[in-house]
Amino acid sequence: MKVTIDGISVEVEAGTTILNAARIIGGDIVPPAMCYYSKLKDSGGKCRTCLVKVSKGSEKDPRPMPKLVASCRTTVMDGMEVQNITSPEVIEARKGIVEMLLINHPLDCPICDQAGECHLQDLGFEHGAVKTRYEFDRRTFNKIDIGDKIQLHMTRCILCYRCVYVADQITDHRIHGILNRGDHSEISTYIHAAIENDFSGNVIDVCPVGALTDKTFRFKNRVWFTNAVEAHRDCDHANCNGKVTLWYKGEEVLRVTARKDVYGEVEEFICNTCRFDKKKTADWVIEGPRKVSHKSVISSNHYEMLNPPPVVKNNPVLIEANKEQFERETRL
Ligand code: SF4
Ligand code: FES
Repeated sequence: MKVTIDGISVEVEAGTTILNAARIIGGDIVPPAMCYYSKLKDSGGKCRTCLVKVSKGSEKDPRPMPKLVASCRTTVMDGMEVQNITSPEVIEARKGIVEMLLINHPLDCPICDQAGECHLQDLGFEHGAVKTRYEFDRRTFNKIDIGDKIQLHMTRCILCYRCVYVADQITDHRIHGILNRGDHSEISTYIHAAIENDFSGNVIDVCPVGALTDKTFRFKNRVWFTNAVEAHRDCDHANCNGKVTLWYKGEEVLRVTARKDVYGEVEEFICNTCRFDKKKTADWVIEGPRKVSHKSVISSNHYEMLNPPPVVKNNPVLIEANKEQFERETRL
């Protein structure tokens, strides 16, 4: 099916969402996504950051869609025309969504462990208003230990459901979820029971904000003062390929995470042994420095050659390369 996004056309398979069609094109026209996660089935449709305008429904029915639609949940039609960064209406709506997401989110980036790799921080920087209009008390919660390695700070949660999908789809059994409704919704283990399974640490990597953090790394360092390298080990867990990113400060491995793609989504989930128990260089085969987007604050203070994201201007070669990368990185 042929779809045109911000004036750039691409052919995609039937059933592809607008968001994934945009990711095949790549570059600045890709809508942000706070709840959709390419490796988690059925994710998306919660946060509305990916809203776009469908200015032409399809070749057969060219009428525009009456409202902005969530691009992560709307599949393309042949001949569809979509506007993202070329629509002032979309940019205005996104600003409103950011304001909405920040209604209950504390502006505590200076003391938050997620700072520097927080999607809401980036979104706020790109689309946020200078001041909030909200005058009421924000929701606050006490911090909760989910096991001895994961800290839940619900005050920062934006209820994207990603961690719930990880627990549902990646781990053996889920004992946490979203309780209650509306303004009372919260992530909880209900009886605050520890999550005990080999893949529980992945909830940290999928959380787009600082609600779920790694207790073995918390407050040890700012992420932009660390050096990230790609490494692997021969992991004996059947579902873990042992490919990770190691975050160094000097000689010390401060934390281990899964490798993430250009959209900040993990390439492969990793087991807790790789994440929490292998913190020595001798445990790993080092592959080389991790490529960090030149836009990321993590790249500050580093002098490696950084690969800027490709600029796509109706360039079929780049679109084809993005398509191949997209297919490699998308399992579901
Ligand atoms: S804790 Fe994080 S991953 Fe889970 S729903 Fe909240 S924001 Fe999303
Ligand atoms: S990413 Fe589409 S609604 Fe959240």
